[in-house]
Amino acid sequence: MYRSHTCGELRSSDINNTVTLSGWVQKVRDKGFMIWIDLRDRYGITQLIFDEERTSSALINQAKTLGREFVIQIKGTVIERASKNPNIPTGDVEILVSELQILNEALLPPFTIEDETDGGEELRMKYRYLDIRRNPVRKNLIFRSKVSMAVRNYLSNEGFIEVETPYLIKSTPEGARDFVVPSRMNAGQFYALPQSPQTFKQLLMIGGMDKYFQIVKCFRDEDLRADRQPEFTQIDCEMAFVEQEDILTAFEGLTRHLLKEINGVEIHKFPRMTFDEAMQKYGNDKPDIRFGMEFGELNEVSQHKDFNIFNQAELVVGIAIPGGNSYSRKDIDKLVEWVKRPQIGALGMVYVRCNEDGSYKSSVDKFYDQDDLATWAAKTKAKSGDLICVLSGETNKVRPQLSALRMELAERLNLRDPKVFAPLWVVDFPLLEWDEDSERYHAMHHPFTSPKPGQLELLATNPGEVKANAYDLVLNGNEIGGGSIRIHDKKTQALLFGYLGFTPEEAKAQFGFLMNAFEYGAPPHGGIAFGLDRLVAILGGQETIRDFIAFPKNNSGRDVMIDAPATIDAMQLDELNLKLNLKS
Ligand code: AMO
Repeated sequence: MYRSHTCGELRSSDINNTVTLSGWVQKVRDKGFMIWIDLRDRYGITQLIFDEERTSSALINQAKTLGREFVIQIKGTVIERASKNPNIPTGDVEILVSELQILNEALLPPFTIEDETDGGEELRMKYRYLDIRRNPVRKNLIFRSKVSMAVRNYLSNEGFIEVETPYLIKSTPEGARDFVVPSRMNAGQFYALPQSPQTFKQLLMIGGMDKYFQIVKCFRDEDLRADRQPEFTQIDCEMAFVEQEDILTAFEGLTRHLLKEINGVEIHKFPRMTFDEAMQKYGNDKPDIRFGMEFGELNEVSQHKDFNIFNQAELVVGIAIPGGNSYSRKDIDKLVEWVKRPQIGALGMVYVRCNEDGSYKSSVDKFYDQDDLATWAAKTKAKSGDLICVLSGETNKVRPQLSALRMELAERLNLRDPKVFAPLWVVDFPLLEWDEDSERYHAMHHPFTSPKPGQLELLATNPGEVKANAYDLVLNGNEIGGGSIRIHDKKTQALLFGYLGFTPEEAKAQFGFLMNAFEYGAPPHGGIAFGLDRLVAILGGQETIRDFIAFPKNNSGRDVMIDAPATIDAMQLDELNLKLNLKS
């Protein structure tokens, strides 16, 4: 038996008991006549003591050979500590060791295994197994497991069946880039790893499964960010015989349950906002509604004077920064520089100081009088003491610019409290979005999404105006889930593929299996997928999903621990009928 107790378990009530513990050496404090060792495992830390008076010299000598991260097993008696440590649950006791066995020696770890480590990101990722021994990482992984279990239990109780779908599927041109896998048995042919199990879950509905879910890995070859990994996990769900309302109700239920169970937060009804409203009020389809700073559109109240920049703009829009009038001229200049950085891309920024005495002072006083500025303040809901920031230009450029400024200022003003949870549904997304590069419409969600009832006719005349039965669940400014009611008949699906630029032959080659299936009694159906990594990170009060993934990839998509991706040898290439022809 390696252990009778864990290192987090012993209390005063165990005093005088003989115990066996196993774990890692966290710390050795050697005072010559007395040695203390902190023994660590997943459950906690227990202090061991060896002293000249009560411990044999052979044992003391053995203890002196121990280094950090050695794996040891000890036997000893639980005794009361002379000086107690109220900071750890086992702090009242220590173990007077009578037997010590070294189970494995350890090299000196390349960084300290402490909450605050001296190891940089790259080093920690290379030795991720050591990083996982650290409290913050371990806690995040345990937290993730707790969330996954809560999801499984909830959905299972609601009658959902977990079904696994294949990882080796077919590449499709829609969406992000696919990761592909060459087939040895079918020379020159490739599987693709699924970006999501979308078509399979729809086929399961046609198969009569009715309520499906799966906690599933998805793969997307896209540029990485704090909230994106090339392989990530979805809570993928689908239901048959449902309308949008049924899906929103069902998954609001899941999210509410998680907030309650995991965070102890009760939220009764999630607000809903249309896509158009979200764009208008926040310049963003995933608004963080924990704080205000809503957009005020100023076209009407700013385009009647000689200020040409505004007169020529499609949109003039501002936000009020609470307390921003306290900014110095230099602070404001820095803000202007910030919005002009290439990442944001604004051409400039107009500002209005809202003075405590009710007067205004703006950077465009030449063109606007106090009455004008008062209307701007009203539109942006600015109070005295605030600073109004105004951007102008093309609507689809200005909105994301002002949205970025809004988020940056909220961050600086500590308005994004990770302990506050503000979920919301964004509904009525456009069905299609215009893509400048390919000069054609793309499905905004995916090509299986159905248009809103009665909107099909609009497709021929105003495709960009058609709204979809598509919705996102947004939590604290992050898109944590998205889904739609699907098309379930061949005719509509074929029509949509047509609008997306597929010839009937291409549509058949890519998605013939689904269109055929629609002809064998496809029920109305719809669903949603949550990004589990994002959900877990946000419930855990953070936004970097890497911290909640056991073995994540770095920003170049590499696993630096196993050194992947890597070349394969000539024989493997040969077997796969592949020849490398790298462009220099
Ligand atoms: P969608 O593409 O919106 O929908 O993905 C669903 C959710 O998955 C998360 N997500 C990601 N998380 C981490 N890294 C990534 N690279 C990444 N990409 C997406 C997001 C997102 O909201 N099949 C549809 C769902 C459906 O229609 O039912 C789908 O995949 O949180």
